[in-house]
Amino acid sequence: MSSRLAVEIAGLKLGNPVMLASGILGSSGMTLKRVVDAGAGAVVTKSLGLEPREGYPNPTLVQVECGLLNAMGLPNPGVHCFGEEIMEAKELGVPMIVSIYGFSSGEFADVAEIAVDAGANALELNVSCPHVEKTGAEVGQSKELVAEVVNKVKNSVNKPIFVKLTPNVADIVEVAEAAVEAGADAITAINTVRAMTIDVETKTPILANKIGGLSGPAIKPIAVRCVYEIRRSVDVPVIGCGGISTWRDAVEFMLAGASAVQIGTAIAFSGLGVFKSVTEGIDAYLKEKGFRSVGEIVGLSNRD
Ligand code: SIN
Repeated sequence: MSSRLAVEIAGLKLGNPVMLASGILGSSGMTLKRVVDAGAGAVVTKSLGLEPREGYPNPTLVQVECGLLNAMGLPNPGVHCFGEEIMEAKELGVPMIVSIYGFSSGEFADVAEIAVDAGANALELNVSCPHVEKTGAEVGQSKELVAEVVNKVKNSVNKPIFVKLTPNVADIVEVAEAAVEAGADAITAINTVRAMTIDVETKTPILANKIGGLSGPAIKPIAVRCVYEIRRSVDVPVIGCGGISTWRDAVEFMLAGASAVQIGTAIAFSGLGVFKSVTEGIDAYLKEKGFRSVGEIVGLSNRD
């Protein structure tokens, strides 16, 4: 791996800046291993809560014109049951970030403590799932609630805290600022965009939950704008997420201000080879343009 690609995010050392996003292949040590073997610089698990959750009935996922629409409903075995998977994934040699959610700030903190005890290197707070009641974006749309959750988790564990924000707000910058003031060590931008699709034959929404979250190429320009705006106003690393499927997409996010990127939906369309192609492409770009590190291009288009 080229040394140009190494990055440090909130004290975590990554061999390359291309991470697995929460939500895909993040539910077991075995699948996380496949992602690491494919070249990810860090992995984020599927979101875990205090209790097991079945999630919504099917259909929970549908392909739309330029992406995927999902409403899984945060299915997970609960953080207690995931300990073994975390242990297994910890042996992989890349930072493992455990995505967590809660139905109160206290619950977020309880889940955080259990995940850290099991070996999480960092936590990503899911305050952005766009369709589960009383958690996710219902927290992330209020800067006061985000600050409360971050503060509580920060006081409970001694590991870096990433906060994954929702684009479904009028002003994402004020939420990012509140998160950072409360102690967030990094911001992940963005989670999915609230969306729906309807079958014209049956005349009903396709997802069982009716409304879900849109990911993939359709949301990339929204995500780039969010990263750009957040980077201008907070002084912690921003991790870009949303529609990245090529090295050009990744570089675009970095120029906007992302210190690293996360890939999710592109795995479904292109397979795990996307990690290698994006990483190699970033490296070739840096080399060709005469940059010695990823850090040299972070925010280059965001300096006026
Ligand atoms: C889900 O499990 O329904 C998606 C989670 C998310 O959007 O954060």
